[in-house]
This record gives sequence, structure tokens and C-alpha cells, in this order.
Amino acid sequence: MRILAPLLEVRAVKKYYPLGRGLLSISKRAVHAVDGVSLRLETGTTLGLVGESGSGKTTLGRIIVGLIHPTEGSVMFEGQEIFSLRGKEQFSLRTKMQIIFQNPEASLNPRKTVRHVLTQPFLLHRLATRSEADERAYHLLEQVKLTPPELYLDRYPHQLSGGQKQRVAIARAIALGPKLVVADEPVSSLDMSVKASVLKLMNEIQSNLGLSYFLISHDLYMTRSISKIVAVMYAGRIVELAETDELFRHPAHPYTQALLASTPVPDPAIARGVSRNVIGEPFSPIDPPDYCRFSSRCPYKQDKCLQRSPQLEEIRKDHWVECFFPL
Ligand SMILES: Nc1ncnc2c1ncn2[C@@H]1O[C@H](COP(=O)(O)OP(=O)(O)OP(=O)(O)O)[C@@H](O)[C@H]1O
Ligand SMILES: [Mg+2]
Repeated sequence: MRILAPLLEVRAVKKYYPLGRGLLSISKRAVHAVDGVSLRLETGTTLGLVGESGSGKTTLGRIIVGLIHPTEGSVMFEGQEIFSLRGKEQFSLRTKMQIIFQNPEASLNPRKTVRHVLTQPFLLHRLATRSEADERAYHLLEQVKLTPPELYLDRYPHQLSGGQKQRVAIARAIALGPKLVVADEPVSSLDMSVKASVLKLMNEIQSNLGLSYFLISHDLYMTRSISKIVAVMYAGRIVELAETDELFRHPAHPYTQALLASTPVPDPAIARGVSRNVIGEPFSPIDPPDYCRFSSRCPYKQDKCLQRSPQLEEIRKDHWVECFFPL
């Protein structure tokens, strides 16, 4: 009997950007953007990836959808290593994974109408005639609540609000019925009230289509409202991973606690016990030390933390922490 593979499995992925260019470069130094990440995501769930700027979230998201090749490690999608696929298989994979970018201004071509954006996936993949593609575009606009669709089909991006643009980007992402959508800070450029309505839409789409989200954000509380599992990233590594409620009730990594403490708290009960913030400066991402990367900012560090790097360990069922002295 074949054991069913998870939808997505990231195995020991690293992405290093070498400093200096060219074959004659003598520099062996590199930015460790992602430095040994493993995780899995099941069908129909949302994993929220949080972490501060520069922690490697976008790099990891782009590796997952195959836009960036990792330096080491592999990404398995439905049991297949995505970087080994060629031809038809690779083409078919592209329909199953999509990405939504932070800034819809940058991802929507200013010279193309909504109709063009939404019919293109069907035409490129030869899945529909032009009139069928038009019909599908109409239906997609209904799904993302840009109605009546005829009002939007012939607009250009500059004729849409930020929230409307992001709805078009979502419509494009779901056009071919993907199983996984990587959303890189999908609402961070939007106003508070618009944020909530776009997140609600993403939730509805997930229930209707049964897809999985890999949701990148630097906002823990936004992540909380939509994720089943939360992964906290620091300096290229996952330092804590748990179901959302568990993570918010029992944050065990000093960095997660600091993140919670530094965010305005809508529910004070959740922040109980979180009192100390981080100190000190982060290490440079260029050739970081081979011991705990959070040690330069950790109020609880001990000698052991400066000798070697901790690894993710399960401290309670399904609750993983990369720390010698979890809180
Ligand atoms: N193409 C590149 N060449 C060199 N370094 C890069 C490249 N892309 C990213 N980096 C570096 O890799 C690290 C991780 O960057 P990344 O964009 O993945 O972080 P992030 O968590 O998405 O940050 P933000 O929250 O600001 O979007 C950073 O130090 C960044 O400067
Ligand atoms: Mg980013």
C-alpha cells in the first residue's frame, strides 16, 4: 500500500547568495537567506510563516513555487521533487501552485486589462477558447466579489483600488484551480478595513476550493486569524512551529515571545507571561555563526548557546522549538 505523501514537503532547504561575482571572485562569503528549513503542509490547511524583515520568508516562498532554485535540499509536491520535473509534468505543476505577491502594483502589468490578466492563464495553457476564457474570467470576478464583473473586465490596474487589485491577483492565482497558493504578505499594503475583507475572501475561497495556503506575513496577529499552523522564522531558520492556538498560548522560543510582546495585543490574556523583549543586535546574514543565531539578542542565553546550534525538537505533541532552553 502506498502511503499518501503530504501536499508539500520542504526538506533541508538552503539558499545562499554568494558575495562578489564572476568566476575569478575569491570571496567564499555568502548571505544565508534560508539555512536548513524543513516543513510539511497538508491539503486544505494554511501554514502562516512569520518573521522579521530579512529572515528569509520571501526566499522560502519563492523556492516552494519553483521560482528560485535552492542551493541545497528539495521541495516535494504531491510526492514529486519539483526541480526534477521537465516538460509536461513541469507545465502541469505550474497550474497546481500559484503565488500572490505583496504588491499588486508590481505584479499586475499596468498596460493589461483585467480581462487580459484573467483570460491569459486559460489561453496560455490552451485550456479554453477565447470566448470560454472570457466566461471563466467573468466567473472568477464573481468568486472574488468584484461584481458586477462587466464593470471590472475592461479596467486597467490604475482604475482599481489597492484592495480591488489584490482581488484580481487572487482571481488570477485561483484561475487554474491550484492546490497550493503561496501568498507573500498579501494584505500588508492595504488599509486595515480592506485587509480584513481580503482575508475573509481568502478564507471563503479556501473553504470553497479546498486549497492550501502558505501565508507569509510579519504580522503574527493577522497570521493567527487565518492559519492552522504557524512557523516562526528567524535568520533563515524555522525556530518554532506549532498549531496556531498552541503557539499563541505557549510560545516557547524567546524570539516568538518577543514577537508577541512587540505586537499590539488585541487579547491581553494571550500575552500573559510575555514580558521581556529582545536585546542586542541580530547577527549579519553573511556567514552567520554555527551556534544559536538568536543568541546575540536572547535575554536567556547560556554558554551552551554559544557552542553549537540547537535543532528543532518536539517539546510537546506537534510543537517544535529550536532552542536549548525553551520557555
Ligand atoms: N537575490 C538576492 N541576492 C542577494 N541577497 C538576497 C537576494 N534576495 C534576498 N537576499 C537576502 O536574503 C535575506 C532574506 O531575504 P528575504 O527577502 O527572503 O527576506 P524576507 O523575510 O522576505 O524580508 P521582508 O519581510 O523584508 O520581505 C536578506 O538578507 C536579503 O538581503
Ligand atoms: Mg519578503
